[in-house]
Amino acid sequence: MDLPIVRLDYAKRQPLLAWRFLSIFVWVDIVAISVAFNLPSRACVFPHNGYPFCNSSLPLDERIDDLISRLNLEEKPWLLTARYSPKGNISRLGIPEYDWGANCMHGVQSRCSPVRIENGTVVGGGQCPTSFPNANSLGSTFNKTLWKAMGTVIGLELRALWLQNVSENTPDRTPHLGLDCWSPNINIQRDPRWGRNLESPSEDPFLCGVYGTMHTLGLQNNSKLDHRYLQAVATLKHFDANSIEGPFWTPTGEWSARNGSITRHNTNAIISSYDMTTTYLPAFAMAVQKGGAAGIMCSFNRINGVPSCANEWLLQKVLRSDWKFRGYVTSDTGGLDDIRNAHHYTADWNETVAVALRAGCDIESAMWTARGENDGRYIDHIPNAVRLGLVSEADVDRAVRNALEIRFRLGLFDPVEDQPLWNISPEIVQSEPHVQLAKEATAQSLVLLKNDNNIVPIAPTNTIALIGPHIHDRSTILGNYLGEVCRGDKSNGCVTSIYEGFGNVTESVAGPLLAAEGCHVMGNDTSRFDEAVGIASTADTVVFVGGLDGGLEGEDKDRPDIRLPLIQQKLLHKIARVNPRVILVLLHGGMIGLDGVIDQVQAIVSMGYPGPYAGTVLPKALYGIENRAWGKTAITWYHDEITEKTNMLNFDMGRSPGRTYRYYNGNPNFRFGHGLNPLTKFELNFASSNLPACSANFVLRSTHSTFDISVSVANKGVKAADEVVMCYFVPLDIPRSEPASKLREQLFGFERIHLDPGASTIVSFPISEDALRLADYVGTPLTFSGQYLLSVTNGLDIVQQTIFVTKEGIICRDVPVLESSEH
Ligand SMILES: *[C@@H]1O[C@H](CO)[C@@H](O)[C@H](O)[C@H]1NC(C)=O
Ligand SMILES: *[C@@H]1O[C@H](CO)[C@@H](O)[C@H](O)[C@H]1NC(C)=O
Ligand SMILES: *[C@@H]1O[C@H](CO)[C@@H](O)[C@H](O)[C@H]1NC(C)=O
Ligand SMILES: *[C@@H]1O[C@H](CO)[C@@H](O)[C@H](O)[C@H]1NC(C)=O
Ligand SMILES: *[C@@H]1O[C@H](CO)[C@@H](O)[C@H](O)[C@H]1NC(C)=O
Ligand SMILES: *[C@@H]1O[C@H](CO)[C@@H](O)[C@H](O)[C@H]1NC(C)=O
Ligand SMILES: *[C@@H]1O[C@H](CO)[C@@H](O)[C@H](O)[C@H]1NC(C)=O
Ligand SMILES: *[C@@H]1O[C@H](CO)[C@@H](O)[C@H](O)[C@H]1NC(C)=O
Ligand SMILES: *[C@@H]1O[C@H](CO)[C@@H](O)[C@H](O)[C@H]1NC(C)=O
Ligand SMILES: *[C@@H]1O[C@H](CO)[C@@H](O)[C@H](O)[C@H]1NC(C)=O
Repeated sequence: MDLPIVRLDYAKRQPLLAWRFLSIFVWVDIVAISVAFNLPSRACVFPHNGYPFCNSSLPLDERIDDLISRLNLEEKPWLLTARYSPKGNISRLGIPEYDWGANCMHGVQSRCSPVRIENGTVVGGGQCPTSFPNANSLGSTFNKTLWKAMGTVIGLELRALWLQNVSENTPDRTPHLGLDCWSPNINIQRDPRWGRNLESPSEDPFLCGVYGTMHTLGLQNNSKLDHRYLQAVATLKHFDANSIEGPFWTPTGEWSARNGSITRHNTNAIISSYDMTTTYLPAFAMAVQKGGAAGIMCSFNRINGVPSCANEWLLQKVLRSDWKFRGYVTSDTGGLDDIRNAHHYTADWNETVAVALRAGCDIESAMWTARGENDGRYIDHIPNAVRLGLVSEADVDRAVRNALEIRFRLGLFDPVEDQPLWNISPEIVQSEPHVQLAKEATAQSLVLLKNDNNIVPIAPTNTIALIGPHIHDRSTILGNYLGEVCRGDKSNGCVTSIYEGFGNVTESVAGPLLAAEGCHVMGNDTSRFDEAVGIASTADTVVFVGGLDGGLEGEDKDRPDIRLPLIQQKLLHKIARVNPRVILVLLHGGMIGLDGVIDQVQAIVSMGYPGPYAGTVLPKALYGIENRAWGKTAITWYHDEITEKTNMLNFDMGRSPGRTYRYYNGNPNFRFGHGLNPLTKFELNFASSNLPACSANFVLRSTHSTFDISVSVANKGVKAADEVVMCYFVPLDIPRSEPASKLREQLFGFERIHLDPGASTIVSFPISEDALRLADYVGTPLTFSGQYLLSVTNGLDIVQQTIFVTKEGIICRDVPVLESSEH
C-alpha cells in the first residue's frame, strides 16, 4: 500500500523551517509554523562542529571513539539514563540531551501536536497521533503488509511529533519524546490470565516474530524517505519470558489477596533449555535477525535465577554473539532497582550497576528520574563502581558506544539540511491515509468465532437491541499505552461509540435501534436488567457488547480467573430466554472463558481492544456493508477450567494439559486460527509441491533447493472477501524422551489474501530445514529426521501432505500427489 510520504523539494526549499508535504494531490508550503515551536536542539552546531565526531565523512566507529575519548567518567552515565530529559546534555561538547524512551505500541503515545496548519497557516491546536488497534487485535489480521505499513506510519508520526518537541502522554507533559520506541511487545500470550495479553499479537512465537519483524521494518527503515538513517528505533520487549504481573500470586501459584506476593518484579521464570530455544527466544531472534531491530528491553523477571538485566548469557551470548544484534539494550523502568530490591541478587548499588553493565544492559530506565528523588542508579553509582574495580571503564564505554551509535544512526550528529527526516510536516500526523489504515486494521482484525443460522450479516430491516456494558464506551475500546487520542473531549465526534456507529448505519440502511446497557462490566447491580430484557424481547436481533476492561486486566493486573464476568453471564441468560437471536461482541485482552454463555448466543465476535474506529467499523461488518475483511483468532479459546489445570507460575509449555495450540491436549471452545467469514465460503485444494518423491533418486537433490507446497484457494461465494491461509507442521517420529515429542502443531507460514467472487489463487509455502527446526532436550536447535505431517488450512478446510526428512537433512514427500509433477 502506498502511504503518503514527505518529500523535499531541494531546489526550492528554505533552510530547515520550510516544510514541503506531498499530500495526495497537492504540494503545500508550510512556513508559518516556524514560530510555533522550537526544533529539538542539535549536536555539532557551531562552535561545536569542529570535532572529528561531527565529521560525517569519517567512519561511524571512529566518530564514536572520538566522542567517547572526550568524555570523562562522570559524564558517561548521563548518556546511559532513560527518561532523563531535560537533563543529560553535555554542553561543553555541544551535545544536547536526548530522551531515551517513547512508546509506540499501536500509535505514538504522545500528546497532540501543539499546532495545526492548514494551507500554510496555523489554525489552532494540532493533530493527535493516529491510534491503531491494540496488538492482540492486530495479531488476528494475519496481515504482514498491514503490520509493516502501520510501523511506517508510527515512525513517521513519531518523527513529526518529536520535531515539535511533543511530550509523552503524561499528566505533567514530561518528558518530551525520544525517537526510540519501547515497543513492540512480542512476549507470547503464554497464559490467558496474564494482564498484558492485549499488548501481544499472539500466543504463537512464530506469529509474534513475524509481527515484530514487520513492525520493526516499517518503523525503523523508511527507505522511501531516506535509506541512510533510522527513521525511529524499535525496542523489542520484554527480553525475556515476561509473562506474569501479579500482584497476588503465592509462590505455589495460587491467587491470594491476603498473602500472595509474586509479581512481575520478583518472578523467577524456570525455563527448560528446550522451551527457551523453541518458545521464548524465537520471536526475538526473528525480529533481531530479519527485522534488524536496533533496541531490546530486558525484563524485570529472573530467568533460571538470574535477573534478565544482569543476565550475561542472555544479553551477550544469545543476543550479541549468536544473533549478531547491533543496537542498544535498556532495562525496563525500575529494572535496576529490582535486581537488588526484588530479586536480592546484589547487596548494594555499586554491585548492582556493575552486574548490569557487565551483562550488557546499556541503558537504565530509572524511575522517571526527572521527577524522582534520585538520578537513577547508573548516574549515582557507575563512577564509584568503576573506581572500586567492580566494573571496568571499558564496560562502561561499551554501553556508551551502543547508546551513542543509535543516536548517530538516527542522524542526530549529522548536518540536518539534507535529511528528509528532519523535515517532516506536522500535517502528516493523523492524516487521512493514516486514519484510513487504522480503520482497515480494525476491520481486518474482527474475528467471527461462531455464526449459527447465519445471524451475521444482520438483515437490514431488523430491529436491533443493542445491549451491554460497552455500548457507549469510548475508552475501553482504545486499550492501553495510548497517546492523547482526542484534543479535548472524546465524545466530541473524536471517538465514535458502538452505539453511535449503529445509529449511523441504521439511519441509512436498517431498521430501528433500541439500546440499554443493562449492567456494568462487573459487580452485582441488576437494577437495569429489566430494561435490557425488555428491549431484547421486542427486537429481531440482540447485539450484546461486553467483555473485559482495564479494571480486570492490565499492567500489574493478572486475572485470577478467565470467565466472562458473572453479571454479564446472568444478563445474557435472561436475554436468551426472551430472544435467542443474540450476537455477543467481546472486548478483551486475554481470551475469555465462554462455557457459561456459548450456548446462549448464536454468534460471537472477538474484537480484542480494537481502537477508536471500532464504533464505525463493527456495525458495517455485522451488516455486511463494505466489509470484506474479518480475521482469524491468534489464540486458543480454552474452557473455563484451564486455570485450575495450569499453574500461572509454571513456564513449561508441554506440561499437561499443555499451553497454547502448540501443546494443549484438550478440545478448546475455539482453536487457534479459527474464524468464519459471514459473506462467502472459501475452498482449499492441493495444487502442487515441488518436493521430490521419496523414491530412488531423491538423494541426488540438493538440500538447498527451495521446496514448497502450494494450495489453490477459491472464493465460492458471491461477495469479495479476504481469507487467511496458514501452514503448520508436526513431526511424527520424535522419541518420547525428547520434549519436542509433545508438540502438537507448529505454524510456519501464513498469508492473507483477497479474492473476488468466483476467483481463485495459488498460495505457496516454502519448506526448508529451517522452517521445520525445533530443538533437542538440551536446547540445541535441530531438525529431527523422520516423518512429518504438513497441514495447510484456513481454519476450516484442510489440505495435508506427509513428508520425510532424512538423516542427511533431505526433504521428500511420501507419495506422488500429482503424476505430472514427476519427471
Ligand atoms: C573530515 O574527514 C575527512 C576524511 O578523513 C577529511 O578529509 C576532512 O578534512 C575532514 N573534515 C574536517 C572539517 O575536518
Ligand atoms: C545542560 O544545560 C544546562 C542549561 O543550559 C546547563 O546549565 C548545564 O550546565 C548543562 N549540563 C552540562 C553537563 O553541561
Ligand atoms: C485550503 O485550501 C483548499 C483548496 O484551495 C480549500 O478547499 C480549503 O477550504 C482551504 N482550507 C482552509 C482552512 O482555508
Ligand atoms: C522541549 O520541551 C521540554 C519540556 O517537555 C522543555 O523543557 C524544553 O525546553 C523544550 N525544548 C525545546 C527546544 O523547545
Ligand atoms: C533500509 O533498507 C534498505 C533496503 O534494504 C537498506 O539499503 C538500508 O541500508 C536500510 N537503512 C537503514 C537505516 O537501515
Ligand atoms: C496463603 O494463601 C494460601 C492460598 O490462599 C493459603 O493456603 C495459605 O494458608 C495462606 N498462608 C497464610 C500464612 O495466610
Ligand atoms: C558504594 O561503594 C562506596 C565505596 O566503597 C561506599 O561508600 C558506598 O556505601 C557504596 N554505596 C552503596 C549504595 O552501596
Ligand atoms: C456517527 O455518529 C457520531 C455521533 O453521533 C458522529 O460524530 C460521527 O461523525 C458519525 N459518523 C461516523 C462515520 O462515525
Ligand atoms: C457480589 O455479591 C457477592 C455476594 O453478595 C459479594 O460477595 C461480592 O463481593 C459482590 N461482588 C462485587 C464485585 O461486588
Ligand atoms: C493487508 O492490509 C493492507 C493495509 O490495510 C491492505 O491494503 C491489504 O488489502 C490487506 N491484505 C489483505 C489480503 O487483506
